[in-house]
Amino acid sequence: MKLILLGAPGSGKGTMAQKLITNLEIPQISTGDIFRKHLKEETPLGLKVKEIMASGQLVPDEITIEIVKDRLAQDDCKNGYILDGFPRSIVQAQALDTFQDVDKAINIDVDKETIVKRLSGRRFCPTCNGTFHVSTLENSEVCPACGGKLIVRADDSEATVRNRLEIYDQTTFPLIEYYEKQGKLLTVDGNASVEEVYGRILSVLKQ
Ligand code: AP5
Ligand code: MG
Repeated sequence: MKLILLGAPGSGKGTMAQKLITNLEIPQISTGDIFRKHLKEETPLGLKVKEIMASGQLVPDEITIEIVKDRLAQDDCKNGYILDGFPRSIVQAQALDTFQDVDKAINIDVDKETIVKRLSGRRFCPTCNGTFHVSTLENSEVCPACGGKLIVRADDSEATVRNRLEIYDQTTFPLIEYYEKQGKLLTVDGNASVEEVYGRILSVLKQ
């Protein structure tokens, strides 16, 4: 199955993708994770996107599209994939349509207030790409899945979160209508526990 996870920053795309990849046995393609890996390894691309990401802006479409095109051409994507954080603009969605035919786009709909609470307590594991929240961690520094060191993402400061939410409204939100017109949109109320939201996703996928 070729799936897109749509939703504002902090809506739970990464959390749900991690659960879905185990269930569906297809890879998670997170453009945010790809860029963060480049940042960590200080590659030329990493240095180029460092300031853009820290301020919550979007990386230019042409760079992002090329990365996704290459990644989806790899063998492990043959039986499907979960796109997490791509596309994020109409230009990216139109480009994707020229090289892939996705099956469904799942929009995780979450209230803004909840999002701000979730992102202010998020912890991320750069070793296994696990996403957690301080409220559910015994030790907020150690990854409960792999034992790696958890970090606070540079773009989770309050001012940057607000900037990311504004950019979402202007640039990414129109994708909901884009996929609705293609008859591919599935919407899930994401204002519930991780397990409940995951159950809702599995149930809309069965429809
Ligand atoms: P990216 O990494 O994609 O960030 P994002 O879209 O802003 O989304 P997040 O990862 O912040 O949130 P999420 O929806 O994955 O939520 P999560 O599961 O972590 O992108 C980062 C940057 O990279 C961008 O700003 C941009 O610069 C660049 N970029 C990436 N893709 C790009 C593209 N296509 N084009 C251009 N630039 C691009 O959950 C959040 C928190 O909530 C966690 O703590 C989690 O534990 C908790 N949580 C999740 N679900 C629940 C629940 N149901 N109940 C309670 N808590 C929950
Ligand atoms: Mg994410």
